[in-house]
Amino acid sequence: MRLVKLIANLGYGSRKEITQAIRNGWVTDRDGKTLKADAKTPHEDILFDDEPLDPPQGMVLLMNKPVGYTCSIKDQGRLVYDLLPDRYRLRKPVLSTIGRLDKETSGALLFTDDGTFLHTVISPKSEVPKIYEAELDRPMTGKEAEIFASGEMMLESETKPLKPAELEVLGEKRARLTLHEGRYHQVRRMFAAVGNHVTALSRTHVGGLDLDGLAEGEWKHLTEEEKAKIFR
Ligand code: URA
Repeated sequence: MRLVKLIANLGYGSRKEITQAIRNGWVTDRDGKTLKADAKTPHEDILFDDEPLDPPQGMVLLMNKPVGYTCSIKDQGRLVYDLLPDRYRLRKPVLSTIGRLDKETSGALLFTDDGTFLHTVISPKSEVPKIYEAELDRPMTGKEAEIFASGEMMLESETKPLKPAELEVLGEKRARLTLHEGRYHQVRRMFAAVGNHVTALSRTHVGGLDLDGLAEGEWKHLTEEEKAKIFR
């Protein structure tokens, strides 16, 4: 891909702006040599304004989403994209979240610009479990684990029962729940269906991938090894 298109697709500016940036000498290789528009320099050796270029298509990010941020690229209020560099919103192909978390849910949220990878993670065939920790309004009754694991639980206005989910009691009003599918507001609706109310919810794992010490609002690029953990 030509240098102008490559850099413009990463969101650094319009093609016109990148053409001008190249003319201004802002695009160099690692030795400081100014690159021309027809340069064939490998992606990892290109610097823009003395900084290495963002990764090419195929990047996967993990964010510890804070409460109060919406998983949307354009919506009212605070958005998860506000926590990333502005140019990430302008990338082509688009950087999407892999699934969603509610505005009031925190924790592990993945992003990618690789459609095949996105579909692999969300495909039921991949069987990627998601683990949540919930704080509850009321003590549990002791029946929840059996109901959630039954494979027969129906949520209001749905026609198919939920797949079995595993509940681990962490305290009188604290539970860990492992889901094998992703229905709308699933955790909150499951507890509501057994007469309880989730007061705080966080996703700790997507497959075998955890937050690995990321603080709320922080994010990182995943290595190949970390990406593989999702499917373990
Ligand atoms: N279940 C919920 O209720 N909310 C989420 O964000 C994810 C799962």
